[in-house]
Amino acid sequence: MFTSWGKTALLLGLALGSGAQDVITSDTAFYGQSPPVYPSPEGTGLGDWASAYTKAKAFVAQLSDDEKVNLTAGVSSNTGCSGFIQAIDRLGFPGICMSDAGNGLRGTDYVNGWSSGISVGASWNRELALSRATYMGQEYRKKGVNMILGPVVGPLGRVALGGRNWEGYSTDPYLSGILVSETVKGLQSQNVATSVKHYIANEQETNRNPTTDSDGNAVQSVSSNIDDKTMHELYLWPFQDAVLAGATNMMCSYQRINNSYGCQNSKTLNGLLKTELGFQGYVVTDWGAQHAGIAGANAGLDVVMPRSSTWNSNLTDAIANGTMEASRLDDMVTRLIATWYYLDQDTVFPHPGVGMPSSASSPHEAVIATSKEAKPVLLQSAIESHVLVKNTDNTLPLKSPKLISVFGYDAYAPLKYDLSNNFNFGLDRERSDLYQNGTLYVGGGSGQNSPAYIDAPIDAIKRRAYEDGSSVLWDFTSEAPTVDYTSDVCLVFINAYATEGYDREALSDTYSDAIVTNVANNCGNTIVVVHNAGVRTAEAWVDHTNVTGIIYAHLPGQDTGRALVELLYGDSNPSGRLPYTVAKRPSDYGALLEPSQPEGQYQYFPQSDFSEGVYIDYRAFDKDDDIEPQYPFGYGLSYTTFDYSDLKISKTSNASSAAYPASASILPGGNPRLFDELVTVTASVKNTGTVDGQEVAQLYIGIPNGPVRQLRGFDKVSIKAGSSASVTFSLTRRDLSTWDTNAQEWLLQRGTYNFYVGRNSRDLPLEGTLVY
Ligand SMILES: *[C@@H]1O[C@H](CO)[C@@H](O)[C@H](O)[C@H]1NC(C)=O
Ligand SMILES: *[C@@H]1O[C@H](CO)[C@@H](O)[C@H](O)[C@H]1NC(C)=O
Ligand SMILES: *[C@@H]1O[C@H](CO)[C@@H](O)[C@H](O)[C@H]1NC(C)=O
Ligand SMILES: *[C@@H]1O[C@H](CO)[C@@H](O)[C@H](O)[C@H]1NC(C)=O
Ligand SMILES: *[C@@H]1O[C@H](CO)[C@@H](O)[C@H](O)[C@H]1NC(C)=O
Ligand SMILES: *[C@@H]1O[C@H](CO)[C@@H](O)[C@H](O)[C@H]1NC(C)=O
Ligand SMILES: *[C@@H]1O[C@H](CO)[C@@H](O)[C@H](O)[C@H]1NC(C)=O
Repeated sequence: MFTSWGKTALLLGLALGSGAQDVITSDTAFYGQSPPVYPSPEGTGLGDWASAYTKAKAFVAQLSDDEKVNLTAGVSSNTGCSGFIQAIDRLGFPGICMSDAGNGLRGTDYVNGWSSGISVGASWNRELALSRATYMGQEYRKKGVNMILGPVVGPLGRVALGGRNWEGYSTDPYLSGILVSETVKGLQSQNVATSVKHYIANEQETNRNPTTDSDGNAVQSVSSNIDDKTMHELYLWPFQDAVLAGATNMMCSYQRINNSYGCQNSKTLNGLLKTELGFQGYVVTDWGAQHAGIAGANAGLDVVMPRSSTWNSNLTDAIANGTMEASRLDDMVTRLIATWYYLDQDTVFPHPGVGMPSSASSPHEAVIATSKEAKPVLLQSAIESHVLVKNTDNTLPLKSPKLISVFGYDAYAPLKYDLSNNFNFGLDRERSDLYQNGTLYVGGGSGQNSPAYIDAPIDAIKRRAYEDGSSVLWDFTSEAPTVDYTSDVCLVFINAYATEGYDREALSDTYSDAIVTNVANNCGNTIVVVHNAGVRTAEAWVDHTNVTGIIYAHLPGQDTGRALVELLYGDSNPSGRLPYTVAKRPSDYGALLEPSQPEGQYQYFPQSDFSEGVYIDYRAFDKDDDIEPQYPFGYGLSYTTFDYSDLKISKTSNASSAAYPASASILPGGNPRLFDELVTVTASVKNTGTVDGQEVAQLYIGIPNGPVRQLRGFDKVSIKAGSSASVTFSLTRRDLSTWDTNAQEWLLQRGTYNFYVGRNSRDLPLEGTLVY
């Protein structure tokens, strides 16, 4: 029954081992198969890669077969790099250091702890995403890290309880796409390669890797079964933007796609990535994600990390016996070396791994990557991580409070902060709904790092008290603390923890809810600050009359306390917006609340059918309009108010309105005609309040036969009190199109397109239409 699956099926058969045939059949699996796409396209130096390829080809021509093979997998090195490609001294190639991760450099000292992906999502700020990435890139470069293992746009956040959603930006592909694009540009402006991950459909941690169950049976990784349209319109979208922005590397994911492992799936690697998107860089495995030998190379995998147990001399054997073309090995190595040249790492880069000690206690030099110049950006990215969602009677900003009472386990710095856990902050991959060993400024797993310091909320609150002569009381340990009757404000700090390796158990926890409720029952002005690594619902206290303020702070990084106090006291005006939907009840997420589990006839081959199509998060809430969110996608309050007027929608004069893009040579990112600007939308936004502030004007469009509305533009603008600003949204052909599975093209349908502009996905005062 594997015959119709072609070559991929054979690979799959190898990987699954015996017994596979008894379980998966084409009529029982909903999607079942990943179509074979061979041979693997060679990188040719498209677009601005031409000179890098010329140099790389000349370099590769000088390599022996054994040297080539050595470049296709990692080796152990005496550095603390997460992965290392060894040097070829005779050609002056010093090797390549790859390290975690997207929110700051892990496994070393003298680095900053930056705001996490979800916080960048909450900022809705292109320029800030770019400058954050630029300063992070400076740090990686100083440390000799040639490639950073990030940023993350997979998971997108399909499953509300997903354990790694916080590493990515948003459940919306458009917002994620813009922010990953700026992040790639910023990091690579510092000559650091980006490994955009996890390619693709890595939407849950449960069963991400093969395991053995308690009876000793092998259980394969979960299979994300996705139809072609959903793949293009949702999951591939931000990866496409990353390739368009020049991303040099893709990390293939642990789980399977249509039952074929992410690092040996010829449709996603050879087909979508290297053919349709014209990707010129190389593909590296997630650590330990190689599950096939030569078959993986033929499917489009280029480099294995941290080491390969099946390649090595097998690659040259396979060429000798005709299982693999010699040109494939050359292409694998050329793609790697081209990346090195593309980013000028042959001329301007420090020695690989120079600032990456093998352990905190081993002798090493202090290579200082932090800088004074980075500080304003570090702080601003922490500030814009915060989303104010409730502010009864403008209780915030605080007005000269005399007594501030602080509660909750999340307000203080860890009691022990040293580098003994090999530079890993706190809990590594322990499953827990909350984190009780200090304020949560980052999530767990490979996305965490050891920042220069941790400025906890209580530290910054006390500094403020020193400056303004106020008093501070605190109780971090009681579930039902005593509240001083004269408190002007009670600040309650709780969190929602998540870590790589596990999905979360719940969207809220009763212990944290009890602290909030107990304080609110005794304090008329209770403000809740949640450090949340993903969606955190608040049904237990959101409507409590004494809960006057709620801030979703997300994961702001090391300046978390300083950033919060600036907002609480009005030195900064909140401008974050939710990059996901907060439901009233967990059940409102429906089947997308929890990860798929191994079950029934697929208990050894877990299946996750993405049968909801593009209807995740707000697209699902809007579809069934009776699901009213607690706080809609895009929502967030400011200390001022904004009015909208003057919507103008116009087709650009030179734009083609043909149904399909004109054919053109593929460039990195795909057909360049997809990115032609077809429509321009403008509107006027007025700051109608009394303080200056930033508004995130949002454009949603209703495409015929699609979701009610989808984000297709946003413009974050600073507006002085009483002034107005013009906001502009530029829509490309792809923004207006849907994926036509028959034509295998983006289709600009004929019909009426609805346009909505406003404050969030459910508050859109301006409406218009356009007909194609
Ligand atoms: C997965 O299967 C669906 C249904 O057959 C198909 O539309 C899609 O292209 C496949 N995608 C991949 C990556 O195999
Ligand atoms: C390949 O790598 C191994 C392990 O580091 C090394 O011993 C060997 O000399 C390398 N081969 C060549 C041809 O450089
Ligand atoms: C070659 O591949 C086989 C599995 O296919 C593996 O057992 C063996 O160790 C590999 N040899 C080398 C030198 O990596
Ligand atoms: C060719 O060599 C590869 C690598 O050793 C091996 O996996 C494969 O089975 C061989 N094929 C044939 C037809 O000998
Ligand atoms: C807190 O730290 C202790 C060890 O110091 C550890 O046992 C515990 O699991 C941690 N708990 C949580 C939930 O943070
Ligand atoms: C609100 O707080 C006051 C104390 O300031 C308390 O008397 C009152 O009962 C609280 N209200 C609720 C609904 O718990
Ligand atoms: C239209 O013209 C402008 C200005 O010359 C150019 O930037 C844009 O790319 C053109 N758009 C298309 C669709 O050709």
